[in-house]
Amino acid sequence: MTLESKAKSVVAQFDYTDDQVNKAVKEFLRQMDEGLQKDGTSLSQIPTYVTGVPNGTEKGLYMAVDLGGTNFRVCSIQLNGDTTFNLTFSKVAIPKDLMVAKTAQELFAFLAKQIELFLKEHHEEHFEQHVRRRMTISSPDGFRDEHVFRLGFTFSFPVQQIGINKGTLIRWTKGFDIPDAIGKDVCALLQDEIDKLHLPVKVAALVNDTVGTLMARSYSSPGKTSTILGAIFGTGTNGAYVEKLANLKKPLTGEYDKSTGEMVINTEWGSFDNQLNVLPNTPWDVALDKASVNPGIQMYEKRVSGMFLGEILRLVIIDLLKNKDVAFFKDENSSSNDWKSTTNIVADSSIYTQWGLDTAIMSVAAADSTPELSTLRGELENQLGIHAAGLDDAQAFKAIAYAIGRRAARLSAVAIAAIVLQSGKLTDPEIKDEPIDIGVDGSLVEHYPYFRDMIYEALAIIDGIGPEGAKRIRIGIAKDGSGVGAALIALVAAGMEKSMSTQDYLGELRSNAKTNNLTAVPEDAENAATD
Ligand code: BGC
Repeated sequence: MTLESKAKSVVAQFDYTDDQVNKAVKEFLRQMDEGLQKDGTSLSQIPTYVTGVPNGTEKGLYMAVDLGGTNFRVCSIQLNGDTTFNLTFSKVAIPKDLMVAKTAQELFAFLAKQIELFLKEHHEEHFEQHVRRRMTISSPDGFRDEHVFRLGFTFSFPVQQIGINKGTLIRWTKGFDIPDAIGKDVCALLQDEIDKLHLPVKVAALVNDTVGTLMARSYSSPGKTSTILGAIFGTGTNGAYVEKLANLKKPLTGEYDKSTGEMVINTEWGSFDNQLNVLPNTPWDVALDKASVNPGIQMYEKRVSGMFLGEILRLVIIDLLKNKDVAFFKDENSSSNDWKSTTNIVADSSIYTQWGLDTAIMSVAAADSTPELSTLRGELENQLGIHAAGLDDAQAFKAIAYAIGRRAARLSAVAIAAIVLQSGKLTDPEIKDEPIDIGVDGSLVEHYPYFRDMIYEALAIIDGIGPEGAKRIRIGIAKDGSGVGAALIALVAAGMEKSMSTQDYLGELRSNAKTNNLTAVPEDAENAATD
């Protein structure tokens, strides 16, 4: 069999037809509904306790940290109240051994240390003042509340949220595996380590990166129609959207504001269709799942997100290399190689190890449309130690990589379409012709060429959307969404703390009034408490 025809047959296995896309949207809607009714379903549909989206007028200085993939980011954000903000950040790669540490404490101590370094570097004055105050004031806390940074903690893993700054880890994803942390409150884990370092920081809000993206996009692009979905297509994938409270049937444990009639729901769509009712399942998907740390879960994510696409491609390549009937990355002699050499793969090429093919090379392949594919061939050499790959090899590599990327984009369109349909915005006469706004972030949607175009192409063939509907859907990048969004939620949380303490204060006044036989709480108590 020629390499070209073999590559074609592989490509065909990654085809996800219009019909399959439409079936999957219906199933997505069904699983969304199931998740709103009860816990323990495939699509988790986690209530976030966030009941409104910002409008761009919010102000203040907040901190945010972001743990969710390969890096840990610490930032401070000045919200200017006019839809703009200023962001300062530092980023550090998470050491691989901490991703699978024995105890959660090891990971969280590392995170707290990064917060300390950030404060010293970027907010030294604030930090020094605080340390001085602690040394001169005898109270155990030693600082006044207004000197404490409110921190929004973006923690991008499935968490059962119990309140705005409280939530227990359900499961790890994206290669993290620290069993000791499961079931623990991740905010408390971080706060304990922050306190050990005596930092002036309070973990005020717990935020999924998708919720942050939704908030950030709403803050910076206000309009008649607010943003309905924040989605990540990066190392992992997920989406958070605004749902009507009336549709949320499962019981909620924490307090929340009911006045808006809405709540942001973290779908955890990475686990959509773990039962494989509608997801495609090639032999390479099966092999990837089997060798993963979490077989049987995050099945949608394993077909869509950046962490996995490169691995699917690698598994295909290994199969082709093993196939004696196909000349892939091998030449009989230099005459069959257009560079008049023979292809060699170095013995220690990372192509032979799990996760050894970085998804980024798929972007290079998609972007290289030169006749010789020389950029791609250069990358094959640099990244994978494949020396003098022939043009036919590079073409096969490119075609297969593209098929995997395209399938991912079409699957992404399934989730986006389902949420647009669920929102009912396309048929709402009040916002006729207005754009339906969606904020996205993540390496895949940002760097994979034509990823958004492929999503739009699929949206246009979906029942209930069609070409006209697809035109109204505005998918825009919300860069740094998780940082800004976490700051915005920390701001909401600060407001909630304030009103909570108002109630406590009034409650105390009332009970004092009773014990002292006074008839009424002083008239201006309400105002005094909120000052
Ligand atoms: C996590 C989500 C997260 C997504 C994107 C998934 O693996 O389960 O919580 O939002 O990755 O970072």
